[in-house]
Amino acid sequence: MIIKEYVAKRKKEIQKEIKKLKRVPNFVIVQVNEDVGSNAYVKGKLKDAEELGVKARLIKMPLTTSQTDLLKVVSDLNVNPEVDGFIVQMPLPKGINEEDVKIAINPNKDVDGFHPLSKLNPCTPQGIINYLHHEKITLQSKNAVVIGRSNIVGKPMARMLLKENCNVTVLHSKTSKEDMFNYVKNADIIVIAIGKQHFLDNTFEYKKSAIIIDVGISRDENGLHGDALENLPVALKTPVPGGVGLLTRLALYENLLTICKNK
Ligand code: GUN
Repeated sequence: MIIKEYVAKRKKEIQKEIKKLKRVPNFVIVQVNEDVGSNAYVKGKLKDAEELGVKARLIKMPLTTSQTDLLKVVSDLNVNPEVDGFIVQMPLPKGINEEDVKIAINPNKDVDGFHPLSKLNPCTPQGIINYLHHEKITLQSKNAVVIGRSNIVGKPMARMLLKENCNVTVLHSKTSKEDMFNYVKNADIIVIAIGKQHFLDNTFEYKKSAIIIDVGISRDENGLHGDALENLPVALKTPVPGGVGLLTRLALYENLLTICKNK
């Protein structure tokens, strides 16, 4: 099923689950950046909330916000009984330590699953795994190559693919071109999240049966682009836009629903 259809189907199911809860879930997004990608994501997340019957609001703070000010907002949300869950949108301005913020979030309200004690997983890799399961794609014993080692995507993605019994290799900016070529050539599943337009192109060789999950998103005068070229000779390449971004937004509300159900 294409991602748009899958997301529409799952949204209807989540909407029903939300209606069964004792009260309307209350969700908050804290944003301390002017990032183009974040603005698009936040707008999408607020739109989803309305559609799903979730009460959501955005706390937008200026770029000059100090870490102390942000941590004060986080600690207020942590104890506010009206708030079921919240996220702090990344990236954060220079001078604010992302790790300090992540561990300050109440793990029971951590919709992003960023806190080390959170039982939930970060939304992008979780959304990808959910979709692969829905499509009944066998993961066990497959060669999975993760390109990019960010804390939000690459690292948790590798951990989750390992849990699915994939043979996992993580490649990054210091991987040689020759190694990159060889790993990609033998990969069954490639997850790329580096933010470099069309990094995977026709200079690489692919298995015909390969699946490329394109997490990257970059913008130029021609619009939005993924980290992989469209129409590569593989079995599946997720589109950009209309791909992983939708899966991430879906996983966010799946995580919020889990939090509300566990109360
Ligand atoms: N920035 C990019 N992706 C994410 C995400 O999943 N959560 C948060 N909080 N920030 C992000």
